[in-house]
Amino acid sequence: MPNARPVRKAVLPVAGLGTRFLPATKVVPKEMLPVVDKPVVQYAVEEAKEAGIEQFVFVTGRGKHIISDHFDHAYELESQLAARDKTAELRSLLEMLPQTGSVGFVRQQQPLGLGHAVWCARHFIGDEPFAVLLPDDLMVGKPSGLAQMVEAYHRVGGGCIVAAEERPREETRRYGVVNPGATKGNATEVRALVEKPKPADAPSTLCIIGRYILQPEIFNELDRQERGAGNEIQLTDAMARVIGRMPFHAVQTTCARYDCGDKVGFLHANIAVGLQRPDIAPALRDVLRLLKD
Ligand code: G1P
Repeated sequence: MPNARPVRKAVLPVAGLGTRFLPATKVVPKEMLPVVDKPVVQYAVEEAKEAGIEQFVFVTGRGKHIISDHFDHAYELESQLAARDKTAELRSLLEMLPQTGSVGFVRQQQPLGLGHAVWCARHFIGDEPFAVLLPDDLMVGKPSGLAQMVEAYHRVGGGCIVAAEERPREETRRYGVVNPGATKGNATEVRALVEKPKPADAPSTLCIIGRYILQPEIFNELDRQERGAGNEIQLTDAMARVIGRMPFHAVQTTCARYDCGDKVGFLHANIAVGLQRPDIAPALRDVLRLLKD
């Protein structure tokens, strides 16, 4: 089996309006809402870095400039923290900064769907395999969700990988759904993909969650700009068309996944991540106990 090409670039679509979180997202992009003390989007970047990603492309829309500010120096704040000897806080800011020149932004001028958002990044990706991370899906665990996918990618000989998890059948209309073949370890062969099928039509209950490793051939499919479910240009439809031309697997990681695009999912993420933080877990546990009584 020839060695699969390394995955060094990632696309993070962050152009969504965040209507489910209004009025919080009137001014603040939903990707900047905090889980405990870090914006949701920063978790995705850290997960990707752990998987060996070196270059990041954010696909943004109107009003998302604070995401680029977040990944830049804040000189005034940094000098004030330094002057006040707040070294831990200063270090946490400096440690999260990406390397100079490793982050790019491209604007999705019209909200035409996830496939269209990924297609907007095509010139930055060029002729290389790449990852896609939807920051709304927060993956918590070690090794990171994308790191486990990259490991599987090399094990199965490259091609395309989607992260997937079993969901209740009534939820299939919210996800891309896998028609599964044989399973080996954490990787299941993908025979077909359907975007947001009705429960009765779903080929299984193995649903795509927001992590992908894709080959650049996907852009040829996205070039068609064909509309699918919800009249949007769907990434799932473009992926479905490359099945059979390259290995294609769905990987079930050991990470917990929280849907931060959903109010309850977002609160769940805050509590779950908070309970893993030694600095706040004991106090948080006390609060939860109080609420239970
Ligand atoms: C997108 C994809 C869908 C996938 C989901 C995971 O849907 O189109 O295939 O299952 O992300 O979160 P969206 O949530 O943007 O409607």
